[in-house]
Amino acid sequence: MQHRRELAVKLVIGIVRPEKANDVLEALYRAEVRGVSLSRVQGHGGELDRVETYRGTTVQVGLSEKVRFEIAVSDDFVDRTIDALCEGARTGEVGDGKIFVVPLERAVRIRTGEADTAAVTPVGR
Ligand SMILES: Nc1ncnc2c1ncn2[C@@H]1O[C@H](COP(=O)(O)OP(=O)(O)OP(=O)(O)O)[C@@H](O)[C@H]1O
Ligand SMILES: [Mg+2]
Repeated sequence: MQHRRELAVKLVIGIVRPEKANDVLEALYRAEVRGVSLSRVQGHGGELDRVETYRGTTVQVGLSEKVRFEIAVSDDFVDRTIDALCEGARTGEVGDGKIFVVPLERAVRIRTGEADTAAVTPVGR
């Protein structure tokens, strides 16, 4: 008896410069990645020039505005999603951002009740 292993779903999180958000959206679209959430966040990448010691405690002086992409995809789309984020967000200067990939326990499309890979696969309407 054959056991076919279902593809798993991952959440790709990309934290990028706000001014590169549209380039990332275009790169994702070209890569046929559909379904994305964006939010504004503030962050710190560990830059030493933005850390100060105040009364013996090290504090972060400056936080940068970033845009956080959250994209749930099936395993076979993870690489192209990462590539699109890099292509759209990269300037080559410090502060270009980070990408994290985390396993997703479940995904559900509310309208149809479809779960997991079926829930993140685009549908006609
Ligand atoms: N380890 C981390 N955990 C969570 N968020 C992070 C982490 N590192 C960076 N970020 C987020 O990504 C944003 C951009 O980070 P940034 O590109 O400056 O990373 P970096 O490691 O300092 O790389 P670079 O040397 O290219 O600047 C940060 O402002 C923060 O929002
Ligand atoms: Mg940095």
